[in-house]
Amino acid sequence: MHLSTWLTLSVVPATLAQLQGPAKLTLRSRTLDNRGKLSRRALKSANVSLLDYFNGTDLQWYGEVQIGTPPQNFTVVFDTGSDTFEIPGKNCTKTCSNQRIFDWNKSSTYKYIDNGDGLYLQFATGVGVTPVNKTDPDWIMTMREVSDTVSVGGLSVPNVPFYLIDYQSPAFSPDPMDGIMGLGTEPQSFFGSLIVQGLPALFSFYLTPQSAGNAELTLGGIDESKFEGPMMFSPVQTNSFSGFWALLSSGVAVNGKTTDALKRPQRFIFDSGTSNLVFPKNLTEAIYALISPDIVANPAVPGTYGVPCNQLSSLPAVIDFTFPSTSGPVFNLTLPSTELSVGPFAANKSLCQTMINAFDIDFDPIIGGSLLKHYYSTWDAGNKTLGFGRTKSTPSNTANCAQRTHPISHYFTRT
Ligand SMILES: *[C@@H]1O[C@H](CO)[C@@H](O)[C@H](O)[C@H]1NC(C)=O
Ligand SMILES: *[C@@H]1O[C@H](CO)[C@@H](O)[C@H](O)[C@H]1NC(C)=O
Ligand SMILES: *[C@@H]1O[C@H](CO)[C@@H](O)[C@H](O)[C@H]1NC(C)=O
Ligand SMILES: *[C@@H]1O[C@H](CO)[C@@H](O)[C@H](O)[C@H]1NC(C)=O
Ligand SMILES: *[C@@H]1O[C@H](CO)[C@@H](O)[C@H](O)[C@H]1NC(C)=O
Ligand SMILES: *[C@@H]1O[C@H](CO)[C@@H](O)[C@H](O)[C@H]1NC(C)=O
Ligand SMILES: *[C@@H]1O[C@H](CO)[C@@H](O)[C@H](O)[C@H]1NC(C)=O
Ligand SMILES: *[C@@H]1O[C@H](CO)[C@@H](O)[C@H](O)[C@H]1NC(C)=O
Ligand SMILES: *[C@@H]1O[C@H](CO)[C@@H](O)[C@H](O)[C@H]1NC(C)=O
Ligand SMILES: *[C@@H]1O[C@H](CO)[C@@H](O)[C@H](O)[C@H]1NC(C)=O
Repeated sequence: MHLSTWLTLSVVPATLAQLQGPAKLTLRSRTLDNRGKLSRRALKSANVSLLDYFNGTDLQWYGEVQIGTPPQNFTVVFDTGSDTFEIPGKNCTKTCSNQRIFDWNKSSTYKYIDNGDGLYLQFATGVGVTPVNKTDPDWIMTMREVSDTVSVGGLSVPNVPFYLIDYQSPAFSPDPMDGIMGLGTEPQSFFGSLIVQGLPALFSFYLTPQSAGNAELTLGGIDESKFEGPMMFSPVQTNSFSGFWALLSSGVAVNGKTTDALKRPQRFIFDSGTSNLVFPKNLTEAIYALISPDIVANPAVPGTYGVPCNQLSSLPAVIDFTFPSTSGPVFNLTLPSTELSVGPFAANKSLCQTMINAFDIDFDPIIGGSLLKHYYSTWDAGNKTLGFGRTKSTPSNTANCAQRTHPISHYFTRT
């Protein structure tokens, strides 16, 4: 799995196996331009309101951005599981018909800067509640690098490099949002440009359930009004897949109980672009075994698990993930029982899908919205730490009581 996989469009791989073949990849790293520090001045933080893409359960949070002169409006997922910024361009004629399209002819500050290579992305996890089939190249985008003025929450930067999507696979079409703004641990594009201009290198998320509303991203700061008690920070594991917000857990417990397998140190990737939890099969089943023997794999939708819906109300499923803190003591991130179900399967309304999907490739387990919506989180790219504060209310996932249709899934952690 690669966070930054750059390759020429002429050797677009069709499978993950090919994606992992080093001979076919041209890897390039993009780092901040240190010269920018000379002109550094303080920039104030900004709040960005987020909308909740809700379809029976919380799927994704997204907000507005403006691009070009005069500004054209778009919405993007602010995605900690990828690092590039992309929106549909005029070349995406068919599969982007539900999204807003950037018209470069209407912007006086637009520049085409692609060197001819383009960028091919394949996504692994994200919006939706069903797992991606890793051998099925259905979640791809091809794009070209351009630059223009970009504004988010009143913060504006000229000449921001980003990508215009030339093609996205049809699976992306139903989305209410237009594009994706990657916010990996190595800030690039818009956020990277803001840091060069003097914005503190951190951002914070208040990813609330639909029932609570008022979800918010704060760029360059922490909104103290959104949580209580101290914020606990843990060091990001920079020796793992670089670019990912990965923390090293000292153990997992379910309803206060643990096992030898769950007591081991284990890295977890935190991804605002993933709706639920995506874990390796053995970790998934070790956790479910401590909840109920009736949680079983649903072969009709490979990678998913289900439990009879009429058992949900009697099943405690409190999961504690323990992490070391930079201030000394360990702390728990706790997933409440209300997250156990993401709603009934479309093909069997009495079988409810449980929140962990199994993913059997060499990949750290991914923690997404199911847990993130119960905390205020601060993603500090300067100090390479990820912090969590207790939100004042811990509203539940409404999927347990509401009948929901099964949304089309797709996924925003880049392979
Ligand atoms: C963000 O919102 C909070 C709460 O409304 C407020 O206290 C804070 O000043 C806002 N920050 C900015 C940068 O507007
Ligand atoms: C962009 O959105 C803002 C509100 O966020 C609105 O005032 C403006 O008219 C919109 N611009 C266009 C071109 O739709
Ligand atoms: C759009 O398509 C044209 C013609 O194939 C190509 O030259 C260009 O690079 C594409 N992308 C953008 C953003 O212009
Ligand atoms: C639109 O932009 C393209 C590429 O920048 C340019 O070749 C074309 O002439 C422009 N079209 C119009 C109508 O201005
Ligand atoms: C995954 O997709 C491939 C290619 O479309 C297909 O052959 C395979 O059966 C699928 N696997 C699963 C588990 O759905
Ligand atoms: C974390 O959770 C475990 C298992 O439930 C519990 O034993 C431990 O006391 C908790 N630690 C803290 C600091 O809350
Ligand atoms: C899952 O298997 C991997 C090796 O494939 C091992 O490192 C890990 O500890 C196992 N996890 C659990 C929870 O059994
Ligand atoms: C639907 O799920 C229920 C609960 O697990 C199960 O008893 C039933 O056999 C399933 N029906 C079908 C058609 O798979
Ligand atoms: C991050 O590091 C800076 C110094 O480099 C320090 O002033 C700041 O308090 C740290 N932030 C957090 C949240 O620990
Ligand atoms: C919710 O999911 C259903 C089933 O896939 C789909 O038809 C519908 O368009 C979705 N609604 C929204 C608002 O995404």
